[in-house]
Amino acid sequence: MKENIVFIGFMGVGKGTVARALSRKTGMFTLDSDDLIESMENRKIKKIFEQDGEDYFRSIEAKTAKWLSLHVEHTIISTGGGFFKVNELNNIGKVIYLKSSFDGIINRLKAQPNATAKFKKRPLLQDIVKAKELFDSRYPLYEQKADVIIDVEEKDIDTILDTIMEKIK
Ligand code: S3P
Repeated sequence: MKENIVFIGFMGVGKGTVARALSRKTGMFTLDSDDLIESMENRKIKKIFEQDGEDYFRSIEAKTAKWLSLHVEHTIISTGGGFFKVNELNNIGKVIYLKSSFDGIINRLKAQPNATAKFKKRPLLQDIVKAKELFDSRYPLYEQKADVIIDVEEKDIDTILDTIMEKIK
């Protein structure tokens, strides 16, 4: 039994924030697919996209998914917004989709103290019209991959954690 928890959802919905808070609450370790990729590649996601393109980045995501499914146990894993497409997703652990509307996500990001940096570091969030199209195309797919769906829009972190704890116990 691997007992991993895997958070999926659109960019900026708060997967990392929720994963870290759940880690503090449960004592389980947490890791993030983008952080793993950045450390393996020794460069930022933005640079990987600029220098080698999105297809290359997706190939590293696939490799990361394989590694997670084979070697990681009892861990909370937050993932990049496109990671849900990897083949192994449901072999890694219980998949929890953090759900919000597009406007809810943009408003959440804009409300952060370092909002400009949060937008800048995400290559697929540079053009807001294209980002909305991406959101619309992914919206139904996240739900298909999810074991559990948590509505996080305008919810505080304690409410989100309580809902997660209730659904995974
Ligand atoms: C991506 C989301 C990003 C990162 C990359 C691509 C996507 O992660 O993996 O920029 O395809 O949605 P976050 O969801 O943490 O922003």
